[in-house]
Amino acid sequence: MIDHLTVVSHPLVQHKLTLMREAGTSTAVFRQLLREISQFLAYEITRELPMTTKEIDTPMERMNAPVLAGKKLALVSILRAGNGLLDGVLELIPSARVGFVGLYRDEETLKPVEYYCKLPERLEDRLVIAVDPMLATGNSSVAAIDLIKARGATNIRFLCLLAAPEGVARMREAHPDVPIVTAALDSHLNEKGYIVPGLGDAGDRMFGTK
Ligand code: URA
Repeated sequence: MIDHLTVVSHPLVQHKLTLMREAGTSTAVFRQLLREISQFLAYEITRELPMTTKEIDTPMERMNAPVLAGKKLALVSILRAGNGLLDGVLELIPSARVGFVGLYRDEETLKPVEYYCKLPERLEDRLVIAVDPMLATGNSSVAAIDLIKARGATNIRFLCLLAAPEGVARMREAHPDVPIVTAALDSHLNEKGYIVPGLGDAGDRMFGTK
């Protein structure tokens, strides 16, 4: 079992994250950096996947070689910003099944509103990695994990780029069984529920909207 919160302090992750935070970083560069960081985070979050062996022939001899055990894992992107992490993770785990949960944040109540949910089958047999760049209030992350659990998943991990202490606490309270892997734990949320110092609205920055 990995810790409830893992901050990936690798120098390359931290350097790329600083470039992403800078207000002047272009949409194209922001997206590329997110893709790159997502692969370091995916490396970390899959560190303890169960393994088995299979017999193969190398050009030299027959051997028992390690391979991943169990059913193909499922990635669940929390729309829309989750898609910025999804592509990079899928490059590392191309056979993963993919689901989407659509939640938007009501800007007045800061509460999540569901508008879409399409998940792979047999979630109870899979490791599910939910991806969303910003763990802010935790409201939408908790709601997404609620939906995923309601569809049978029992083995879930949460991958994000930035986390606020408030979001981590909310997740720990609602879903203590879901480990979180992130590139940074920031200072706090502002009155609008944005992470400070943060990087602004991740969806807007990756898709060039306002
Ligand atoms: N969502 C974002 O995109 N940014 C934040 O800082 C908080 C929530």
